[in-house]
Amino acid sequence: MRGIILAGGSGSRLSPVTRAVSKQLLPVYDKPMVYYPLSVLMQAGIRDILIISNPHHLEAYRRLLGTGADLGLRLEYAAQPEPRGLAEALLIGAEFIGDEQVALILGDNVLHRPGLGALLHEERGRLVGCTLFGCTVPDPHRFGVAELDASGRILSLEEKPDNPRSNLVVVGLYLYDNEAVARAAELKPSDRGELEITDLNRTFVESGNARLVPLGSEAIWFDTGTHDSLLQASVFVRAQERLGRPVGRLEDIARDMGFLADRRVRAAG
Ligand code: DAU
Repeated sequence: MRGIILAGGSGSRLSPVTRAVSKQLLPVYDKPMVYYPLSVLMQAGIRDILIISNPHHLEAYRRLLGTGADLGLRLEYAAQPEPRGLAEALLIGAEFIGDEQVALILGDNVLHRPGLGALLHEERGRLVGCTLFGCTVPDPHRFGVAELDASGRILSLEEKPDNPRSNLVVVGLYLYDNEAVARAAELKPSDRGELEITDLNRTFVESGNARLVPLGSEAIWFDTGTHDSLLQASVFVRAQERLGRPVGRLEDIARDMGFLADRRVRAAG
């Protein structure tokens, strides 16, 4: 499976902080924001990762993360000239994805849950169509909202509805089989001129191969798109670090996943 981190956009809600700096490079406590979504892909065992950002900021990501070889990863970079929607990541990344499955994660999502790696591994193994992950929040109208039936089947997906049908929202981590690329190419821009991820996901709901996995009460999820949520995410990471439960430490994850041992073997060979 290939991974894509979408780390572009204008960051207008965090202006002026983001006027000269990419939002996803801002610190969440002691690490750049992009470390957290990268750590999620790594926990899923994904090592081939494309980082997409806007053309002015791409160089800064290259400086920060390089080829990824230090972490046993293979990182590539691509520009999104304008923020034309989350689903455009699959078109920009089409060549990189090739014939593989893909995990798309938003560069501003901080997601933490005990056993997340094992869960993602399991979901990778059973992926057909698309797999979404859900969290229950008090303010669903800010997100993509899912409605499930009693058996957990997705009845509807709505992007930022005025009257949400549930408190269950879709977090910014999406697993797709290869068909998603062709489906993204068929999407029409929404009224706000974007290729909407929710429109893409709805096509999988309609064809009966979308699955939503509720992450449960142990999951902590921040969409760090506002000053308040950015601060809350920093406070959370600091609290975890103090409890000896680090979050987003790439070197530790690379070691635990066996990525570094592999690298040493390759270097020796
Ligand atoms: O965080 C989860 C939510 O993410 C989902 O529940 C929603 O369904 C989904 O649409 C998205 O909502 P947001 O309001 O958070 O999307 P936003 O436009 O803020 O973009 C999310 C991130 O992706 C943000 O860091 C900027 C970046 N981005 C956004 C667009 C539209 C890009 O890199 N390129 C883009 O074209």
